[in-house]
Amino acid sequence: MIKKGIILSGGMGTRMSPLTKAVNKQLLPIHDKPLIFYPLSILMLAKIKDILIIVNKGQLDQYKKLLPNGKNLGIKITYAEQSKPRGLPDAFIVGEKFIKKNNVALILGDNFFYGQNLSKTLIDSSKLNNGAKIILHKVSKPEMYGVAKIDKNNKPVKLIEKPKRYVSDLAVTGLYFFDKNVVKYAKNLKPSSRGEIEIIDLILKYKKIKKLKAEILGRGSAWLDTGSIEDFYKTSAFVSAIENRQGFKIACLEEISLTNKWIGKKEITNAIRFYGNCGYSNYLKKLT
Ligand code: TTP
Repeated sequence: MIKKGIILSGGMGTRMSPLTKAVNKQLLPIHDKPLIFYPLSILMLAKIKDILIIVNKGQLDQYKKLLPNGKNLGIKITYAEQSKPRGLPDAFIVGEKFIKKNNVALILGDNFFYGQNLSKTLIDSSKLNNGAKIILHKVSKPEMYGVAKIDKNNKPVKLIEKPKRYVSDLAVTGLYFFDKNVVKYAKNLKPSSRGEIEIIDLILKYKKIKKLKAEILGRGSAWLDTGSIEDFYKTSAFVSAIENRQGFKIACLEEISLTNKWIGKKEITNAIRFYGNCGYSNYLKKLT
């Protein structure tokens, strides 16, 4: 059972400069909320309550203004700083003290997931006892992603970063579930030619020891990564369309906590006071 989760929420956000010069990418808006709400909501839907947010050095105060210690959401949020973007598996090195001897989930701060059956997939995946599990999603441009070819039992047989020739159109998303050995394996990784340690190498380690599993998100679900300005607008339009149409909010953290029975009506009232007079608060009012 996985009870701990990490959100990797640093990065340079180079592709989005100058927007990201003073503000971290994950604090920028996707429609009506900061991007970080979306990956955080995913961990909460997986029933993970103990969460480490890794941020860039110097950006802690900004984050704490938005998401203090998690008490208001009935969860526990702690922070760690990454001195520079050394690669995705660095999450497990920076997060070593947080992980201790536990299994852990990792979600990238700029990944957006939505769809039917998502909560069930998340809860099932968090039942992992040993090995690793990756979450795959079909994409139209596999050459832009790390992809996995799977056999008929959903076992990954091939993993390739940005394949030049077609191998599979199942992209490895930025949500991963690992057993406690991940810290040890991450520490043994050697930087690639671009000078970063690579998540694909970490996943390949689990494949080598035959402990890698995969889960595929079906066509009723959406996975978007928000690395460019265009992605930001597209994802915002997606959220806005669904929220306006259905009247439900995507990634309303307080609503998820209330549904999970981690908080009560009192905390919702406090949240309304905290956010002030805005659309998000108006939505929260309907929950009280
Ligand atoms: P990337 O998309 O690789 O990097 P980035 O977001 O800084 O963007 P750019 O390529 O435009 O510079 O990172 C994916 C996510 O992981 C993103 O949310 C930032 C985060 N990240 C870290 O927090 N630390 C790291 O060392 C790396 C590599 C990424």
